[in-house]
Amino acid sequence: MPSNAPIGVFDSGLGGLSVLQAVRALLPHESLLYVADSRFAPYGERPDAFIEQRSLAIGRWLRERGAKALVVACNTATAHGVAALRADAPWPVIGVEPGIKPAAAASRSGVIGVLATAATLRSARFADLLARHTAQGQRFLCQPGHGLVERIEAGDVDSPEVMTLLDRFVEPMLAQGADTLVLGCTHYPFLIPALQRRFGTALTLIDTGAAIARQLQRRLATDGLNASQPPGGHGDLQLMTTANANALQTMADRLLANAPRVQTVEIAEIASHGPARLDLAPNLPIIPA
Ligand code: DGL
Repeated sequence: MPSNAPIGVFDSGLGGLSVLQAVRALLPHESLLYVADSRFAPYGERPDAFIEQRSLAIGRWLRERGAKALVVACNTATAHGVAALRADAPWPVIGVEPGIKPAAAASRSGVIGVLATAATLRSARFADLLARHTAQGQRFLCQPGHGLVERIEAGDVDSPEVMTLLDRFVEPMLAQGADTLVLGCTHYPFLIPALQRRFGTALTLIDTGAAIARQLQRRLATDGLNASQPPGGHGDLQLMTTANANALQTMADRLLANAPRVQTVEIAEIASHGPARLDLAPNLPIIPA
């Protein structure tokens, strides 16, 4: 029984467009509702309980708008919100996680860099992921990408400031023998051209957008939720943000053919979640795994 209801996709901001692109390429018949919670980005510098509550609020909002399934196109929201989202309602919830497993398989030197948000790196889910996939003799060098999401949200993917941050984060990994870099935040695939320009082929870059799209495809098939072919061949796409529409519009126009007009929406907070901000040291050191 096909279901032509849309699939909800959300991220703290415009990073999830990297996943949306892969979903549209693999599942063009599906209609998609995308929410960028840019009003509260970056999630990666916020307390765990805040991230969980935003994830729940957006998940419920998308369900109320008829979404048949949810893609949490954000590593940080998956790390801190996917369990609550799955407990909240019986619907397919697909999360994303840093590509530790493919990186472990791809690395020849056994030294692998992981660039992700501070909130992802401190999560129990991430510790468990590392524990499951670190083979004997392998080392993961985990670096919070402080400052990158803010730049990308502003539409900046290659300014001198971005290049300085990339140098600061990636050069110590190369110096320790890393040959593979996990892009553990859905904003970071937008940095691939800059990373390739700066570091050439020294690093194999691991992005999981296409793998998430395949996982969604399998889950829709298992649950009998595939859309039937719509008249024009393509499902509808709606793009929404909780902040000013300009940044998402610019990135969407750059990435997607016929991007629709972005709408600004309000998604209320649903519960008290303690402080909305964390006091963090501006640059955490590389954490040896
Ligand atoms: N794009 C998100 C991720 O994958 C979140 C970035 C952020 O808001 O800090 O982690």
